[in-house]
Parts: sequence; C-alpha cells; structure tokens
Amino acid sequence: MNKKRTGLIAALDMGSSKICCLLAHSSNDGGLKVLGVGHHASKGIRSGAVIDMDAAQHATLTAISAAEELANETIREVIVNVSGGYLSSEKFKFELPISGREVNQTDIRRALAQGNFCQRDTDYEVLHSLPMAYSLDATKGIRDPRGMFAETLGVEINVISTRAANLRNLAACLGRCHLDIEVAVAGPYASGLACLVEDEVDLGVTIIDMGGGTTTIAVFYDGEVVHADSIPVGGHFVTSDIARGLSTSVAHAERMKTLYGSAISSPADERELIDVPLIGEEINNQPNHVPRSLLNGIIRPRIEETFELVRNKLESAGLDRIAGRRLVLTGGASQLQGVRELAALVLEKQVRMGRPMRISGLAEATSGPAFSTCAGLVRFAAEKHSDVRDQLDAIPTGVSGRISRIGNWLKGNF
Ligand SMILES: Nc1ncnc2c1ncn2[C@@H]1O[C@H](COP(=O)(O)OP(=O)(O)OP(=O)(O)O)[C@@H](O)[C@H]1O
Ligand SMILES: [Mg+2]
Repeated sequence: MNKKRTGLIAALDMGSSKICCLLAHSSNDGGLKVLGVGHHASKGIRSGAVIDMDAAQHATLTAISAAEELANETIREVIVNVSGGYLSSEKFKFELPISGREVNQTDIRRALAQGNFCQRDTDYEVLHSLPMAYSLDATKGIRDPRGMFAETLGVEINVISTRAANLRNLAACLGRCHLDIEVAVAGPYASGLACLVEDEVDLGVTIIDMGGGTTTIAVFYDGEVVHADSIPVGGHFVTSDIARGLSTSVAHAERMKTLYGSAISSPADERELIDVPLIGEEINNQPNHVPRSLLNGIIRPRIEETFELVRNKLESAGLDRIAGRRLVLTGGASQLQGVRELAALVLEKQVRMGRPMRISGLAEATSGPAFSTCAGLVRFAAEKHSDVRDQLDAIPTGVSGRISRIGNWLKGNF
C-alpha cells in the first residue's frame, strides 16, 4: 500500500553512545544511496532521553554538519529515532461502516487514523498506528481489503507511543540546531526495517537492538511491526560493571570489554591473564593482572539479566508464539563476544546477527550493527512515511486530536 518517496532523506539517530546523521538519496526504483554520514560521540543523552541540552545540541550539530558537508546539502528537517522514553505498544480494534460498497484507500486511511486518538495516557504521544489484521464482516485475516465488498470493515491496530516529554526534549534540542522533526520513529522499528529480510518479517521475528544505554525490542509478523518496547539497560552498564568490579577507569574497562570480554565463559579463561591498570595508578607503575574469568564473570550476569528482561517483556505482551523462534541481534553492544550464544540460551531462539542491508554507499566504519537504527530511519522515510502522511490527512479537520501533524504539533509547542 506504500507510495515510494524519492529524493533527499535526512535521518538522525540520537543514541546514548553516538549521534549519527545519515543523508541519503532515494530513487524511483526503490534504491537508497548514502550521500553523507556524520557521527559524533554522544553527549547529553542517556537511555534515549536528553539529559543535558547544551551538550546534546553540540554533539548533534557536529554530526549533522559533517554529513551536510559530505553530501553538499543543507537540511531543515530530520527523521528521528525514539528509543528510550518508555515506548509503549498497545492493540486496538475498530469498525468502520462500509454499507455494502467497495472498500477503498480512504476507508483504510480513516480506519488507521483512529489509532491517533486512542492513546489513553495523556502524557504519551502516538508515533505509529499500524494495521495488524483486517476483517470484512465475519471474514477475518484479510491482508488487503481494498476492492472487496462488505457492510463493515474491521481493523486491528498496533499503536506505538512514547512519553510526550521525551519527544518534546528531542524537538527542543533539534530546534536549537534549527531543525524540525519531520517524523519520529520508534528505534527498534527502524532497526528492523534496516536488518530484516522479507521472509522474516512475514513469518515472525524478534529484533533486539543492543545500544549503549538502551536495549530495544520489536516483533514483526505478517509484514508489519506488531510490538515495540525498550529497557533502559545497555553496553554502558557492562562497562561500568567492569570498571567498578576491577577498580579500573571507564576507558580501560571499555577497552577490556571489546578486546577480551565475552558473555560466555570457557575453561581457558582461568589461565589467561589480562593487564588491568588500577584507577589512579601511573601506567606501568604497578602491574595488576587478573584472570579473564574474572572479567567474563562480571559481564555474563549483566547480559543474562538483559535477555531475561527481554524475555519477560515478550512473555507479558503474549508474543512468544507469534514471534516464532527467529531472533536477530543488532546494535553496537551485540558485537560483544558470546552475546549470540547467550541470547540463544536464555531466549531459546535461533539467532543471527543483523546489520544495515539494502542501502549502498555506507563505508566500512558505518555499515556495522551500531548504524542499523539510522539506516532504518532512511528506509522508513522511503517506504513508510507516505502512510503516516495519508493517515494524518485522513483525520477530519476540526477534530481536536491528540496528535494532528507531528510537525505542527511540535512547532505549536515550541
Ligand atoms: N566490539 C564491541 N564489543 C562489545 N561491545 C561493543 C563493541 N563495539 C561497541 N560496543 C558497545 O556498544 C555500545 C554502543 O552501541 P550503539 O552505538 O548501538 O549505542 P547507541 O545507539 O549510541 O545507544 P542507545 O541505542 O542505547 O541510545 C557501547 O556500550 C559499546 O561499549
Ligand atoms: Mg541505538
């Protein structure tokens, strides 16, 4: 049902570890080509939320300017990622009278637009209203009802929303950078669009994006995202655990984690010694060696806990069956050794590692799993954004909806 969008697309992932801006060109044949990438160590963002406006503004401007320079373009609007800030995913059912005529595109848009009004929590804002299943009178499980006749069109909608204050802070930060939010997209939804293949999205798959300050989850089924969630735990927590546990600096802990760390232990770990500079000691002053098993003994519980939290989230959403046994891991923190094996063990699924696909022009350094969300934002703009516009156009004028047009809402508030 999607109309393809062509031309320049600007995506911005404001992560807890890095802020990444991707400028890409979407062509008529659906191809996506990166024109410029800029990224900068994140400052002022924690677990997907702005905690220091000045620092976040500076890091964002640096990332955007670098991408603009490479692409030789100036941007005014960006597609942003919403990761932390309590992503919520709720299911609603609506019915629309059709009176025996043919179902058309306007009926579909009207039905989906209902999702924009059904967020009961006043401090939450709707990001996506997505169809899960259609029914025509008593016939269920219809994928595309257009062109079919019925008395009543039924639709089951997945409404993904986030804390309004979280979105407002992102908008305020971008406003300081003279940028508007074109549309805000749930982070794990974007990661899924970047990493998943069509068969996975159709048959059922769970994607987990393991970032620095958040771990986000999305479940796809029957061609669309049916659930999105997040937990405020990520790779930074592992690094802090190591720094505390081994009395070393955060920088050394990060280095040890990426070079020697593993979420799965091996018998050789007892014999292998790693050099750990103690915090505050001069380098080489007092060599301190610890067995690798000590390091891995700190890492494993944190990763295990993360996957247990994910499992609880999936179980409480009742998605165990629908999501099937397929799991895709992405995000910077998924690169830790042994994570794949531990995920398979705790979540009892078949795991593969995901990274951005079907987008050309990404350099080696920016094509890894840490860039999945940003690449997915571009894909969202190219393939799905017209749906959002359609839905918002379908909202009757004069209706005081909680969200009318995301852009206007944001402008109206700042
Ligand atoms: N090779 C590696 N091995 C282990 N961990 C790694 C590796 N490379 C990066 N990481 C970890 O990945 C995390 C950053 O991931 P990513 O860049 O996806 O985060 P982010 O998108 O900025 O944050 P968030 O999504 O939480 O807002 C850091 O905690 C870092 O330690
Ligand atoms: Mg991220």
